[in-house]
Amino acid sequence: MDPNRLDGRCALITGAAQGMGAAVAKNWAAQGAKVCLGDINVEGVAQVAKEIAEEGGTATHVRLDVTDEDDAVAAVAHTVSQFGEINLLLNNAGVNKPRFFMDIDKPNYDFIMGVNAWGKLNVMLAAARQMREQGRREYVYKIINVGSILSRETFDDVIVYGMSKHAVLGLIKGGAKGLWEYGITVNGYAPGVVRTEMWEQLDRDLVEIGKFDKKGESMDSIAENMILMGRYSYPDDIIGTAAFLASPDSDYMTGQLLMIDGGMVIQ
Ligand SMILES: NC(=O)c1ccc[n+]([C@@H]2O[C@H](COP(=O)([O-])OP(=O)(O)OC[C@H]3O[C@@H](n4cnc5c(N)ncnc54)[C@H](O)[C@@H]3O)[C@@H](O)[C@H]2O)c1
Repeated sequence: MDPNRLDGRCALITGAAQGMGAAVAKNWAAQGAKVCLGDINVEGVAQVAKEIAEEGGTATHVRLDVTDEDDAVAAVAHTVSQFGEINLLLNNAGVNKPRFFMDIDKPNYDFIMGVNAWGKLNVMLAAARQMREQGRREYVYKIINVGSILSRETFDDVIVYGMSKHAVLGLIKGGAKGLWEYGITVNGYAPGVVRTEMWEQLDRDLVEIGKFDKKGESMDSIAENMILMGRYSYPDDIIGTAAFLASPDSDYMTGQLLMIDGGMVIQ
Protein backbone atom coordinates (compact mmCIF):
# COMPACT_ATOMS: atom_id res chain seq x y z
CA MET A 1 0.00 0.00 0.00
CA ASP A 2 1.28 3.47 -0.94
CA PRO A 3 0.95 5.68 2.17
CA ASN A 4 0.95 8.81 -0.04
CA ARG A 5 -1.52 7.71 -2.74
CA LEU A 6 -4.33 9.88 -1.33
CA ASP A 7 -2.21 12.77 -0.02
CA GLY A 8 -4.16 16.03 -0.13
CA ARG A 9 -7.54 14.34 -0.11
CA CYS A 10 -9.94 15.81 2.47
CA ALA A 11 -12.91 13.47 2.64
CA LEU A 12 -16.33 13.25 4.22
CA ILE A 13 -17.50 9.63 4.58
CA THR A 14 -21.11 8.95 5.53
CA GLY A 15 -22.22 5.84 7.43
CA ALA A 16 -18.66 5.39 8.71
CA ALA A 17 -19.39 3.91 12.15
CA GLN A 18 -19.14 0.29 10.96
CA GLY A 19 -19.10 -2.01 7.95
CA MET A 20 -17.75 -0.84 4.62
CA GLY A 21 -17.78 2.86 5.56
CA ALA A 22 -15.43 2.24 8.48
CA ALA A 23 -13.22 -0.09 6.42
CA VAL A 24 -12.86 2.42 3.57
CA ALA A 25 -12.20 5.26 6.04
CA LYS A 26 -9.34 3.31 7.62
CA ASN A 27 -7.92 2.37 4.22
CA TRP A 28 -8.08 5.93 2.86
CA ALA A 29 -6.47 7.32 6.03
CA ALA A 30 -3.68 4.75 5.75
CA GLN A 31 -3.05 6.05 2.22
CA GLY A 32 -2.73 9.67 3.33
CA ALA A 33 -6.29 11.05 3.15
CA LYS A 34 -7.76 13.15 5.95
CA VAL A 35 -11.17 11.73 6.78
CA CYS A 36 -14.25 13.14 8.47
CA LEU A 37 -16.54 10.33 9.60
CA GLY A 38 -20.28 11.04 9.72
CA ASP A 39 -22.99 8.77 11.10
CA ILE A 40 -26.14 8.77 13.25
CA ASN A 41 -24.11 6.44 15.49
CA VAL A 42 -21.83 9.09 16.97
CA GLU A 43 -20.11 6.75 19.45
CA GLY A 44 -19.31 4.45 16.54
CA VAL A 45 -17.65 7.15 14.43
CA ALA A 46 -15.80 8.50 17.46
CA GLN A 47 -14.35 5.02 18.01
CA VAL A 48 -13.35 4.55 14.34
CA ALA A 49 -11.73 8.02 14.32
CA LYS A 50 -9.81 7.10 17.48
CA GLU A 51 -8.55 3.88 15.89
CA ILE A 52 -7.41 5.77 12.79
CA ALA A 53 -5.54 8.32 14.92
CA GLU A 54 -3.87 5.51 16.87
CA GLU A 55 -2.56 4.17 13.55
CA GLY A 56 -1.10 7.61 12.74
CA GLY A 57 -3.91 8.77 10.43
CA THR A 58 -5.89 12.01 10.46
CA ALA A 59 -9.56 11.67 11.32
CA THR A 60 -12.38 13.65 12.83
CA HIS A 61 -16.02 12.75 13.33
CA VAL A 62 -19.43 14.36 13.31
CA ARG A 63 -23.00 13.34 14.08
CA LEU A 64 -24.76 13.18 10.73
CA ASP A 65 -28.23 12.05 9.75
CA VAL A 66 -27.99 12.04 5.95
CA THR A 67 -31.72 12.75 5.62
CA ASP A 68 -31.38 16.10 7.44
CA GLU A 69 -30.42 19.15 5.37
CA ASP A 70 -28.90 21.09 8.28
CA ASP A 71 -26.86 18.05 9.34
CA ALA A 72 -25.47 17.65 5.81
CA VAL A 73 -24.40 21.30 5.61
CA ALA A 74 -22.91 21.09 9.12
CA ALA A 75 -20.96 17.90 8.31
CA VAL A 76 -19.45 19.53 5.23
CA ALA A 77 -18.65 22.66 7.28
CA HIS A 78 -17.01 20.51 9.95
CA THR A 79 -14.84 18.80 7.32
CA VAL A 80 -13.75 22.20 5.97
CA SER A 81 -13.12 23.61 9.45
CA GLN A 82 -10.85 20.66 10.30
CA PHE A 83 -9.03 20.15 6.99
CA GLY A 84 -9.31 23.50 5.16
CA GLU A 85 -11.50 22.16 2.34
CA ILE A 86 -13.54 19.18 1.16
CA ASN A 87 -12.49 17.53 -2.10
CA LEU A 88 -13.84 13.99 -1.72
CA LEU A 89 -17.21 12.62 -0.61
CA LEU A 90 -18.04 8.97 -0.01
CA ASN A 91 -21.82 8.75 0.12
CA ASN A 92 -21.98 5.36 1.82
CA ALA A 93 -24.76 5.43 4.47
CA GLY A 94 -27.55 3.02 3.56
CA VAL A 95 -30.38 0.96 5.04
CA ASN A 96 -32.53 -2.01 4.03
CA LYS A 97 -35.74 -3.63 5.28
CA PRO A 98 -36.96 -6.45 3.02
CA ARG A 99 -40.63 -6.86 2.10
CA PHE A 100 -42.44 -8.85 -0.54
CA PHE A 101 -44.26 -6.59 -2.99
CA MET A 102 -47.75 -6.82 -1.46
CA ASP A 103 -46.38 -6.01 2.01
CA ILE A 104 -44.70 -2.73 1.06
CA ASP A 105 -46.13 0.26 2.89
CA LYS A 106 -45.31 3.96 2.96
CA PRO A 107 -43.19 3.86 6.17
CA ASN A 108 -41.04 1.12 4.58
CA TYR A 109 -40.75 3.17 1.37
CA ASP A 110 -39.98 6.42 3.22
CA PHE A 111 -37.35 4.79 5.45
CA ILE A 112 -35.39 3.20 2.63
CA MET A 113 -35.80 5.89 -0.03
CA GLY A 114 -35.21 8.58 2.60
CA VAL A 115 -31.74 7.36 3.53
CA ASN A 116 -30.60 5.69 0.30
CA ALA A 117 -31.94 8.12 -2.30
CA TRP A 118 -32.75 11.49 -0.70
CA GLY A 119 -29.94 11.08 1.86
CA LYS A 120 -27.39 10.66 -0.92
CA LEU A 121 -28.74 13.59 -2.93
CA ASN A 122 -28.87 15.72 0.23
CA VAL A 123 -25.22 15.17 1.14
CA MET A 124 -24.16 15.48 -2.52
CA LEU A 125 -25.84 18.88 -2.71
CA ALA A 126 -24.14 20.14 0.45
CA ALA A 127 -20.70 18.88 -0.65
CA ALA A 128 -21.05 20.04 -4.27
CA ARG A 129 -22.15 23.55 -3.21
CA GLN A 130 -19.07 23.80 -0.98
CA MET A 131 -16.83 22.54 -3.81
CA ARG A 132 -18.36 25.13 -6.16
CA GLU A 133 -17.62 27.78 -3.52
CA GLN A 134 -14.00 26.64 -3.25
CA GLY A 135 -13.57 27.03 -7.02
CA ARG A 136 -11.80 24.83 -9.54
CA ARG A 137 -8.53 23.24 -8.52
CA GLU A 138 -5.66 21.59 -10.38
CA TYR A 139 -7.10 18.26 -9.16
CA VAL A 140 -10.67 17.06 -9.62
CA TYR A 141 -13.20 16.97 -6.84
CA LYS A 142 -14.66 13.51 -6.41
CA ILE A 143 -18.05 12.25 -5.27
CA ILE A 144 -18.43 8.49 -4.87
CA ASN A 145 -21.90 7.06 -4.33
CA VAL A 146 -22.33 3.53 -3.02
CA GLY A 147 -24.79 1.56 -5.14
CA SER A 148 -25.45 -2.18 -5.11
CA ILE A 149 -26.07 -5.11 -7.41
CA LEU A 150 -29.63 -3.86 -6.99
CA SER A 151 -28.70 -0.71 -8.94
CA ARG A 152 -28.88 -2.97 -12.00
CA GLU A 153 -31.13 -5.87 -10.92
CA THR A 154 -33.85 -6.48 -8.37
CA PHE A 155 -35.32 -9.36 -6.41
CA ASP A 156 -38.86 -10.00 -5.16
CA ASP A 157 -38.07 -9.39 -1.47
CA VAL A 158 -36.08 -6.13 -1.72
CA ILE A 159 -38.08 -4.05 -4.18
CA VAL A 160 -37.87 -0.65 -2.47
CA TYR A 161 -34.17 -1.15 -1.74
CA GLY A 162 -33.72 -1.97 -5.44
CA MET A 163 -35.63 1.21 -6.35
CA SER A 164 -33.39 3.24 -4.03
CA LYS A 165 -30.21 1.76 -5.52
CA HIS A 166 -31.47 2.41 -9.05
CA ALA A 167 -31.88 6.00 -7.83
CA VAL A 168 -28.20 5.96 -6.84
CA LEU A 169 -27.33 5.03 -10.43
CA GLY A 170 -29.46 7.97 -11.59
CA LEU A 171 -27.63 10.25 -9.16
CA ILE A 172 -24.28 9.09 -10.52
CA LYS A 173 -25.30 9.73 -14.13
CA GLY A 174 -27.14 12.98 -13.42
CA GLY A 175 -24.49 14.21 -10.98
CA ALA A 176 -21.75 13.57 -13.53
CA LYS A 177 -23.56 15.69 -16.12
CA GLY A 178 -24.59 18.41 -13.69
CA LEU A 179 -21.39 18.87 -11.72
CA TRP A 180 -18.48 18.63 -14.15
CA GLU A 181 -18.70 22.36 -14.81
CA TYR A 182 -17.45 22.77 -11.21
CA GLY A 183 -14.64 20.25 -11.67
CA ILE A 184 -16.52 17.48 -9.84
CA THR A 185 -16.62 13.87 -11.03
CA VAL A 186 -19.33 11.50 -9.81
CA ASN A 187 -18.79 7.75 -9.82
CA GLY A 188 -19.77 4.83 -7.65
CA TYR A 189 -19.21 1.22 -6.76
CA ALA A 190 -21.73 -1.54 -6.34
CA PRO A 191 -21.11 -4.32 -3.80
CA GLY A 192 -22.97 -7.62 -3.99
CA VAL A 193 -23.30 -9.65 -0.79
CA VAL A 194 -20.95 -8.28 1.87
CA ARG A 195 -20.78 -9.73 5.34
CA THR A 196 -21.43 -6.64 7.49
CA GLU A 197 -24.00 -5.81 10.15
CA MET A 198 -26.38 -4.76 7.36
CA TRP A 199 -26.33 -8.27 5.92
CA GLU A 200 -26.55 -9.92 9.37
CA GLN A 201 -29.74 -7.91 9.95
CA LEU A 202 -31.00 -8.68 6.45
CA ASP A 203 -30.41 -12.37 7.10
CA ARG A 204 -32.57 -12.17 10.26
CA ASP A 205 -35.26 -10.17 8.41
CA LEU A 206 -35.36 -12.65 5.51
CA VAL A 207 -36.10 -15.46 7.96
CA GLU A 208 -38.80 -13.29 9.57
CA ILE A 209 -40.61 -12.66 6.25
CA GLY A 210 -40.33 -16.34 5.31
CA LYS A 211 -37.84 -16.10 2.44
CA PHE A 212 -35.36 -18.44 4.16
CA ASP A 213 -35.89 -21.04 6.87
CA LYS A 214 -32.97 -20.46 9.16
CA LYS A 215 -30.34 -17.93 10.13
CA GLY A 216 -27.24 -17.91 7.93
CA GLU A 217 -29.00 -19.68 5.08
CA SER A 218 -29.43 -16.58 2.90
CA MET A 219 -25.73 -15.80 2.51
CA ASP A 220 -24.69 -19.41 1.93
CA SER A 221 -27.51 -20.08 -0.50
CA ILE A 222 -26.86 -16.93 -2.54
CA ALA A 223 -23.11 -17.61 -2.59
CA GLU A 224 -23.68 -21.13 -3.85
CA ASN A 225 -26.43 -20.47 -6.36
CA MET A 226 -26.07 -16.89 -7.55
CA ILE A 227 -22.47 -15.70 -7.21
CA LEU A 228 -20.18 -16.78 -10.04
CA MET A 229 -17.15 -16.88 -7.74
CA GLY A 230 -19.03 -19.04 -5.24
CA ARG A 231 -18.49 -16.93 -2.14
CA TYR A 232 -19.88 -13.79 -0.54
CA SER A 233 -17.54 -10.90 0.22
CA TYR A 234 -16.10 -8.88 3.09
CA PRO A 235 -15.30 -5.14 3.32
CA ASP A 236 -11.69 -5.97 2.39
CA ASP A 237 -12.97 -7.03 -1.06
CA ILE A 238 -14.33 -3.51 -1.57
CA ILE A 239 -11.57 -1.19 -0.37
CA GLY A 240 -9.31 -1.50 -3.43
CA THR A 241 -11.99 -0.20 -5.79
CA ALA A 242 -12.94 2.56 -3.35
CA ALA A 243 -9.30 3.67 -3.17
CA PHE A 244 -9.01 3.61 -6.97
CA LEU A 245 -12.06 5.86 -7.29
CA ALA A 246 -10.62 8.26 -4.68
CA SER A 247 -7.18 8.36 -6.31
CA PRO A 248 -5.82 10.25 -9.35
CA ASP A 249 -5.94 6.93 -11.26
CA SER A 250 -9.66 7.51 -11.87
CA ASP A 251 -9.44 11.21 -12.81
CA TYR A 252 -10.61 10.66 -16.42
CA MET A 253 -13.78 8.89 -15.34
CA THR A 254 -17.21 10.17 -14.48
CA GLY A 255 -20.78 8.84 -14.45
CA GLN A 256 -19.69 5.22 -13.89
CA LEU A 257 -20.82 2.55 -11.44
CA LEU A 258 -18.30 -0.28 -10.91
CA MET A 259 -19.69 -3.67 -9.87
CA ILE A 260 -17.77 -5.54 -7.11
CA ASP A 261 -19.94 -8.62 -6.74
CA GLY A 262 -17.96 -11.73 -7.66
CA GLY A 263 -19.81 -11.92 -10.98
CA MET A 264 -23.34 -11.90 -9.55
CA VAL A 265 -24.77 -9.35 -11.97
CA ILE A 266 -22.97 -9.11 -15.30
CA GLN A 267 -24.21 -6.50 -17.76
N1 LIG B 1 -23.70 -5.35 3.03
C1 LIG B 1 -24.02 -5.60 1.78
O1 LIG B 1 -24.14 -6.76 1.36
C2 LIG B 1 -24.22 -4.48 0.79
C3 LIG B 1 -24.39 -4.82 -0.55
C4 LIG B 1 -24.54 -3.81 -1.49
C5 LIG B 1 -24.52 -2.49 -1.10
N2 LIG B 1 -24.38 -2.17 0.23
C6 LIG B 1 -24.35 -0.76 0.55
O2 LIG B 1 -23.11 -0.42 1.12
C7 LIG B 1 -23.26 0.66 2.04
C8 LIG B 1 -22.67 0.27 3.39
O3 LIG B 1 -23.30 -0.91 3.83
P1 LIG B 1 -22.79 -1.78 5.06
O4 LIG B 1 -23.08 -3.19 4.70
O5 LIG B 1 -21.42 -1.37 5.45
O6 LIG B 1 -23.87 -1.32 6.15
P2 LIG B 1 -23.83 -1.20 7.75
O7 LIG B 1 -25.24 -1.34 8.19
O8 LIG B 1 -22.78 -2.06 8.34
O9 LIG B 1 -23.37 0.33 7.94
C9 LIG B 1 -24.21 1.37 7.52
C10 LIG B 1 -23.92 2.61 8.36
O10 LIG B 1 -24.84 3.64 7.92
C11 LIG B 1 -25.30 4.31 9.09
N3 LIG B 1 -26.56 4.99 8.81
C12 LIG B 1 -27.79 4.44 8.67
N4 LIG B 1 -28.70 5.41 8.50
C13 LIG B 1 -28.03 6.58 8.52
C14 LIG B 1 -28.43 7.95 8.40
N5 LIG B 1 -29.72 8.30 8.25
N6 LIG B 1 -27.48 8.91 8.45
C15 LIG B 1 -26.18 8.56 8.63
N7 LIG B 1 -25.74 7.31 8.78
C16 LIG B 1 -26.67 6.33 8.72
C17 LIG B 1 -25.42 3.23 10.14
O11 LIG B 1 -25.45 3.77 11.45
C18 LIG B 1 -24.19 2.40 9.86
O12 LIG B 1 -23.06 2.84 10.60
C19 LIG B 1 -24.76 0.95 2.09
O13 LIG B 1 -25.06 2.00 1.18
C20 LIG B 1 -25.37 -0.35 1.58
O14 LIG B 1 -26.64 -0.14 1.00
C21 LIG B 1 -24.22 -3.14 1.17
